[in-house]
Amino acid sequence: MTVIVDQPNFGIEVDQKDKNSEGLILDGGFAVPNANAFGHDFRDYEAESERQEGVEIFYKTNHIHQTYEFVKRMREEYMKLDKVKMSIWECCELLNNVVDESDPDLDEPQIEHLLQTAEAIRKDYPDEDWLHLTALVHDLGKVLLLPEFGELPQWAVVGDTNPVGCAFDESIVHHKYFKENPDYNNPAYNSEFGVYEKGCGLNNVFMSWGHDDYMYLVAKENKSTLPSAGLFIIRYHSFYALHRSGAYKHLMNEEDEENLKWLKIFNKYDLYSKSKVRVDVEKVKPYYLSLIQKYFPEKLRW
Ligand SMILES: [Fe+2]
Ligand SMILES: [Fe+2]
Repeated sequence: MTVIVDQPNFGIEVDQKDKNSEGLILDGGFAVPNANAFGHDFRDYEAESERQEGVEIFYKTNHIHQTYEFVKRMREEYMKLDKVKMSIWECCELLNNVVDESDPDLDEPQIEHLLQTAEAIRKDYPDEDWLHLTALVHDLGKVLLLPEFGELPQWAVVGDTNPVGCAFDESIVHHKYFKENPDYNNPAYNSEFGVYEKGCGLNNVFMSWGHDDYMYLVAKENKSTLPSAGLFIIRYHSFYALHRSGAYKHLMNEEDEENLKWLKIFNKYDLYSKSKVRVDVEKVKPYYLSLIQKYFPEKLRW
């Protein structure tokens, strides 16, 4: 499914080189712009924007339909990786037609967002090449919206993610809509631990289905050599209840704690690079092709 959204003209232009005073400075010197592409604060789900109403309807549908059973079915289906064979770069180009309806900040082709994020991180962490590539691939799972990949509805592809099979934490955006989710009243799934145990590790927890978990499966099943922190970032980058609000820590193990540090670093760039910073795709392409060669040497099964 391709969704075209008219691009309004009131976004701010941010030039990282000489307008640092317009934004906060992150750890590595990356300038945080004050506003998203629509001129609002980032992740402001109450701001009156052209997107806001659509975003709320989106989360209502998402929260009602993402049940434990649904997630299990989706994982089984997509674990087969029998849809398409293509390289990471081919996928970046394919993703260009997709606009994410759940995102109140972003109104640009996805490849721009991928490269903005990757280039911003590369500037501040030049030696962590795995992190640059993680940034490039983190959203590629959004191809689930396209016909070749089953053309899933937006609510099953994008937006924040959360565990299923245990209680929905209050910090999850538009939490009230979970009341209409069948799991909400099911005693097997609605307690603090639900079907899980203390410290079981996020690896053993089912997350609401979407582009994060799908891209994680693609990377893992294709035997990518990305480090564990890279795979963790891909898998949990939309899990805001965890990395923003600190919920669900009782399910984490030690390795999760370590990886979470990297996810928090990554998230600043994922969020704040969604602004009007332009990237010259052709100029940076050779660098990213070399990273793809290093960490994903073969064509991937999707
Ligand atoms: Fe994402
Ligand atoms: Fe992203």
